[in-house]
Amino acid sequence: MITAETTTAQVRSALRRALPKNERPGLVLRTMDRLERASVLDAVAEPLRRGVRSLPLSRAARDVLHGKWLGHPVHPVMVQVPVGAWLSSAVLDLVPGAKVPSRVLIAVGLAGAGPAAVTGWADWADLHKEQVRVGLVHAVLNSAGVFCYAGSLGARLVGREGAGRMLALAGLTVIGAGGAIGGHLAFRQASGANHTESFPHLVSPGWHSLGELTTIPLGRPVRRMIEDLAVLVVRDADDTLSVIADHCSHLGGPLSEGTVKEGCVTCPWHGSVFRLSDGWNVEGPATAPQPVFDARVTDGEVEVRLRRGTRRRSRPAPVRNR
Ligand code: FES
Repeated sequence: MITAETTTAQVRSALRRALPKNERPGLVLRTMDRLERASVLDAVAEPLRRGVRSLPLSRAARDVLHGKWLGHPVHPVMVQVPVGAWLSSAVLDLVPGAKVPSRVLIAVGLAGAGPAAVTGWADWADLHKEQVRVGLVHAVLNSAGVFCYAGSLGARLVGREGAGRMLALAGLTVIGAGGAIGGHLAFRQASGANHTESFPHLVSPGWHSLGELTTIPLGRPVRRMIEDLAVLVVRDADDTLSVIADHCSHLGGPLSEGTVKEGCVTCPWHGSVFRLSDGWNVEGPATAPQPVFDARVTDGEVEVRLRRGTRRRSRPAPVRNR
């Protein structure tokens, strides 16, 4: 016989399995890690990704979808509409006499799901393989949620209110799981983060030597180190030096392996274009610019420092000094 005690014990046991222990990750994290390594998903993901990338969209249109204008991905903003509407509808389903407002919110969510999906697919197509796998599962779950809500609305409109509510509940559950996986993709896998954010925290103030000017070839991107940080250096014919962070703000691609043309460098991984003079992200998918350095030559030696106006970030004191 199922009693309250046995149910409580089962819930406790499930939570113990799901949550991490001190010495190892829990079931949730192990499942997500397995998902990242699930190469079986590549058979679907890769053709789909090629399809998305080959859509006849202009560079400008893709930049709008990526969120270059916003300075970060648009997708997390767009998903607020369906998630907010559907969650509100779930609350209204508990309120007597709120059938119509609940239906309206479901319809609003369905209308908002399309734009949210389009921005998500645009970002997804320019990710690493492990991120693409997780993103695919995120998208499949969200699509399933959309179908549930479409079915829910249809059922309600023909008077099958109970079935409509059950379908909405199923949709919310699936969307919740999809959202959690999206969180893993965004935060643990850093798919939409600015990958140069830490750079200004790490550069010491003042000028740093990059060695003799003669060691830097003309017109070719080269990588040099400031302490432990890699920078891209380009020397023009008139010995003008352009220096920006080498790790691409999109996903950390090595800009020094990219191509330099007309005062810009193109990332070798997904084609983001950065202006060498000020690090501006001329074209996405990068949504953030590159940290940029001033350069000078003193007695034949190249010196650089983080450009004034580049936001210098605080450097936390080492933990042992606190
Ligand atoms: S890493 Fe993706 S464009 Fe540079």
